[in-house]
Amino acid sequence: MTASIIDGKAIALAIREELGLEVSDFQERTGVTPHLAAILVGDDPASAIYVRNKQRACEKAAIQSTMHRLEADTTQQQLLGLVEQLNTDPLVHGILCQLPLPDQIQEQAILDAIAPAKDVDAFHPESVGLIVQGRPRFLPCTPHGIQQLLLRSGIETSGAHVVILGRSEIVGKPMALLMVQKQEGANATVTICHSRTRDLAAITTSADILIAAIGRPGFVTAGMVKPGAVVIDVGINRVDDRLVGDVDFEPVSEIAAAITPVPGGVGPMTIAMLLKNTLAAARELSGDLSN
Ligand code: GUN
Repeated sequence: MTASIIDGKAIALAIREELGLEVSDFQERTGVTPHLAAILVGDDPASAIYVRNKQRACEKAAIQSTMHRLEADTTQQQLLGLVEQLNTDPLVHGILCQLPLPDQIQEQAILDAIAPAKDVDAFHPESVGLIVQGRPRFLPCTPHGIQQLLLRSGIETSGAHVVILGRSEIVGKPMALLMVQKQEGANATVTICHSRTRDLAAITTSADILIAAIGRPGFVTAGMVKPGAVVIDVGINRVDDRLVGDVDFEPVSEIAAAITPVPGGVGPMTIAMLLKNTLAAARELSGDLSN
């Protein structure tokens, strides 16, 4: 069997086009232009590329974006000052602080300081708490993007065994929370595996949907995948100047029913969901009740 390739780039483009129309409709009705403020601290080249891609996608959807670039030696106080300024700026609807941050800054302190109404990454404890309770304000971009990939590819999640590799705050944990919700595109039986999990292959081979988010190139081998499973690769690893995922793509695609490529799978969906959250934030903050 050869897996069908889930084209995240094409699906994300379709979503971005839908969003572009929604943005212009909102803009015409209210006179408000949705505005994302992105903060980039230091000069990590990968982070700079991610933020630039997010900004480009904003432009294409007629969402305003401003980039706040801070030096690598920025103090926590300085960064908190910028966050506060953006929190109170009535023209800013979404705030994104690209992670990771330099060592002298406590990430959680920054995420805690972002106004929940502008928390388009959904990393604030209030955002996470609302997700836990099944009444989200914003959904975290990468897990939401994966859920949309599954939905738009017609992959049934209800009653499916979804196995997630990785327990990060950005992907693993919130992914599990989304898939276990009582709603369309969820209702799954969820297992989270991590570095201390015993007999990993015994669990992964029982997955109907296997989601790899551990940041280890080629970690998921063919022997870890059930024939006919759906494999979602969240990994973006740089190996010899090439981007590779957490999945050993060629052999696994011989076994799986469907698989996401890297690049062009999950990555573009993360950005599309960020735009969606930014529009939602602008709507909410400007009291737009239509839709
Ligand atoms: N670093 C890696 N992924 C993300 C993300 O989704 N948002 C932010 N802010 N930083 C990240």
